[in-house]
Amino acid sequence: MPRTVYAFPTVNDVSANLRDFVLRAQDEALAKHDRFTIALSGGSLPATLARGLLEHQTAFQWSKWHVFYADERCVPLDDAESNHRLAHEAFLAHVPIPAEQVYTINPDLVGQPEAAAEDYQHQLMQAFAPTGDDVRFPVFDLILLGMGPDGHTCSLFPGHPLVNERALWVSSLTDSPKPPPSRITLTFPVLNHAHAVAFVTTGANKQDMLVRVLDQSEEGLPAGMVNPTAGHVYWFLDEPAAAKLQDS
Ligand code: 6PG
Repeated sequence: MPRTVYAFPTVNDVSANLRDFVLRAQDEALAKHDRFTIALSGGSLPATLARGLLEHQTAFQWSKWHVFYADERCVPLDDAESNHRLAHEAFLAHVPIPAEQVYTINPDLVGQPEAAAEDYQHQLMQAFAPTGDDVRFPVFDLILLGMGPDGHTCSLFPGHPLVNERALWVSSLTDSPKPPPSRITLTFPVLNHAHAVAFVTTGANKQDMLVRVLDQSEEGLPAGMVNPTAGHVYWFLDEPAAAKLQDS
């Protein structure tokens, strides 16, 4: 799997370079098909992404964007813990993406994580295989992920049975070590069928885990298990996060 690691002095530089990268990904996608499918995770990512995107909004073909969530917390869409609320407030509310092209968790199912995951998988199937006769895993143009200091990504945590999920596109969990406990998440087969995955990782608290994940000698670190079979993995780091990496 090809991998590219970029380190920039500050989070603002990460934002600006991420914007250019997303623009290239959009243009490449639109040269191949008529839409740009992107999945977003939560945490600090929406703010880092928004800072760059909103500065050059006119460069993007928003009407072609289809936005999904790489993971979501099982809370109402307007809850302070909702990844959709984060992304909406950070940038979705400020750009003209048609509302039906933003795929949220079903707000009626947030009290039933398993049903919410099944419903989200169904939304993905409708979006990627609408005739129902194509059951291959979806191929996202771009998935943007964060990484926790324990090596988790999406809501795939080290040592959790969900890291072994091989059949479902979307799974639920009710024991997330990072609060809130109830979540849904894309699974590794989906991450590993993407055309491109970019991790956006900033801050000194990620230094040690970055060394371990990028070294690739250790098994079972979810961020290190993202290896798209026909795709490329990118890392966008700021200097505090990259401080312990060797130059290569
Ligand atoms: C979530 C996530 C999670 C996040 C990482 C990194 O909803 O909690 O999607 O996987 O991306 O924990 O978060 P930070 O960038 O805030 O450290």
